[in-house]
Amino acid sequence: MKTHRTFQKMKSDSEKIVMMTAYDYPSAKTSEQAGVDMILVGDSLGMVVLGYDSTIPVTVDDMIHHGKAVRRGAPNTFTVIDMPFMSFNVSLETTMENAKIIFQKTGAHALKIEGGHEILESVRALTKAGIPIVAHIGLTPQTVNVMGGYRVQGKTNEDAKRLIEEAKALEQAGAIAIVLECVPEKLASVITEELTIPTIGIGAGKQCDGQVLVYHDLLQYGVERLAKFVKPYADFNEQATRALNHYIEDVKTEKFPSKEHTYSIDEEVLKGLYG
Ligand code: KIV
Ligand code: NA
Repeated sequence: MKTHRTFQKMKSDSEKIVMMTAYDYPSAKTSEQAGVDMILVGDSLGMVVLGYDSTIPVTVDDMIHHGKAVRRGAPNTFTVIDMPFMSFNVSLETTMENAKIIFQKTGAHALKIEGGHEILESVRALTKAGIPIVAHIGLTPQTVNVMGGYRVQGKTNEDAKRLIEEAKALEQAGAIAIVLECVPEKLASVITEELTIPTIGIGAGKQCDGQVLVYHDLLQYGVERLAKFVKPYADFNEQATRALNHYIEDVKTEKFPSKEHTYSIDEEVLKGLYG
């Protein structure tokens, strides 16, 4: 199985890293069979599979529940699990405790935490305890209310500088990779060059060492609006609606179930049933 050493080597060999989110057994299984390099059980599951309008309601138990299903579906793929809103950064003690339960109960290979300077202490402590950490900077959806909306980050000189410094500090603290979300391509490129650990971009241009997309966005599965940075590769909404309409019509018109989907019984046995 690939490990973070493999990903570091992929970076130095300029081989792109493909990360995909997965939230359950089938999405994990498909991702592993397709051959993605790593899986992220993102707290985006709150939005794309649980129907919340942000990632804020997602709990540690949600992440464990979905994380376990993903591990069953993709036992041979390096799997990163998000620590959800306020399960970290409240105190180091609760961070360690929550990380421990998620890591132990799911068998994840790494955990991901949103934030820059404010998470350095946690990254150091978790790494020291044996939990590899992927950091996540730029647009950090858990702090959407503080940021004042989902928008591109690092557009000013000051913000761009801060992101570069944070990325370096996170690497120094022991992070094994950094997700860069919604930052200008040139800035992502500078950060990628400054680091020895891989950058995984989402809305961060093609210079990152890898890319990540949300499963349901890529497949257009249950989501209505796509962000600018998403390229849809299929239209599951359309296919599923068409299939279900067809099923409804077949049942109403008695085309389904037909003989091929029906069990039969020997006539002799049947006679005996009527006494
Ligand atoms: O929750 C998630 O899916 C993520 C990715 C978009 C990076 O954090
Ligand atoms: Na996330």
